[in-house]
Amino acid sequence: MEKTFLMLKPDAVQRRMIGKLVQRFEEKGFELIGAKLMRMTMAQAEAHYAEHTDKPFYGELLEFITSGPVFAMVWQGEGVVAMSRLMIGKTNPLEAAPGTIRGDFATDKGNNIIHGSDSPESAEREVANAFHPEELLIFDPFLPKLEA
Ligand code: TYD
Ligand code: MG
Repeated sequence: MEKTFLMLKPDAVQRRMIGKLVQRFEEKGFELIGAKLMRMTMAQAEAHYAEHTDKPFYGELLEFITSGPVFAMVWQGEGVVAMSRLMIGKTNPLEAAPGTIRGDFATDKGNNIIHGSDSPESAEREVANAFHPEELLIFDPFLPKLEA
């Protein structure tokens, strides 16, 4: 079954938005198979955003995502990757449609509330970077073990 990695960023946690945002995905009908409040280590942040290493905003991005707790989740369901991205909205909240999470709750490109995987392949990598296989409700023997 298709999975995605959704992460409520430090701004969302600080703004007490965890419940409200989780509710959107529950109401849509996707299945939550893992969730935890965590602080991303710098190594995890670098791995998570590896594709952006050369971007001018990379430093700020790492600083922001490690600045406080995040709420990391794994959701499952048919089409969950693309639908989550639709529900999240465009990267720049000023271009994100009303009704989307970024469109409704953010104005700043950096502090844009939530991350969602952009493909099933990214999801697999991002889940493995943030979760131990045992932390997922349905144990997936194909997920690589993380070092303790
Ligand atoms: P990206 O993967 O392009 O966006 P998305 O989160 O929608 O997949 O970029 C990752 C994060 O980097 C993005 O959520 C916010 C930050 N970012 C900036 O701060 N400035 C920018 O110009 C861009 C494109 C992204
Ligand atoms: Mg992205």
